[in-house]
Amino acid sequence: MTPARIGVLISGSGSNLQALIDRIHGVESTGEISVVLSNRRKAYGLERARAVGIPTVVESHRGHASREAYDAKIVEHLRAHHVDWVLLAGFMRIVTPTLLSAFPNRVLNIHPALLPSFKGLHAQQQALDSGVSITGATVHLVTPEMDDGPTVAQGAVPVYPKDTLEDLKQRILTVEHQIYPMVAQWICEGRLSIHEGVVTVALKANESRSLFSNGH
Ligand code: GRF
Repeated sequence: MTPARIGVLISGSGSNLQALIDRIHGVESTGEISVVLSNRRKAYGLERARAVGIPTVVESHRGHASREAYDAKIVEHLRAHHVDWVLLAGFMRIVTPTLLSAFPNRVLNIHPALLPSFKGLHAQQQALDSGVSITGATVHLVTPEMDDGPTVAQGAVPVYPKDTLEDLKQRILTVEHQIYPMVAQWICEGRLSIHEGVVTVALKANESRSLFSNGH
């Protein structure tokens, strides 16, 4: 099997990137993170990548004629690193069909809610405001509609009455850091395939596409 070459797109802290690195970098794996690209020069995630010798690219979203022109530049960088799967991990840009059609059925995102609930920004605050007692995170295929593609994996966490926004963000992050590496591992092992929007995972015994965590 040809090793999977994963490109990770970030804008900030990169704690999900770190979880991906911890799972598949430098271990006996049939895949690797080939490049980390950020639209922000100061994204801390870039340091996480550099610390383990993963190539990094900074491509600011400013100064491009359109979102499509920006995405065409990103595609160029990803192709230069022979990427075949693209994982968005806190990449704060709306991606266009220019990027999606370059990697059909192979651009994934992680969203801090159980989609289709709480799409868009401030998903954790939306959950608190709504009064739900369970929320979580979703890894999904990226489609032109924001936070709308088919689900690949989900992790659920409780919401407690006294939760602050920070409490809930952290609890959701703990489950994000479990499900995104799990999906990356499926990719590396050739167990995830998506065709015409239909997600198929070759699950092993006792494995599931959903995970329940109390966040500790
Ligand atoms: C995460 O909550 C992720 O779900 C959302 O952006 C945040 C990124 O956090 N898309 P980090 O940069 O991975 O720490």
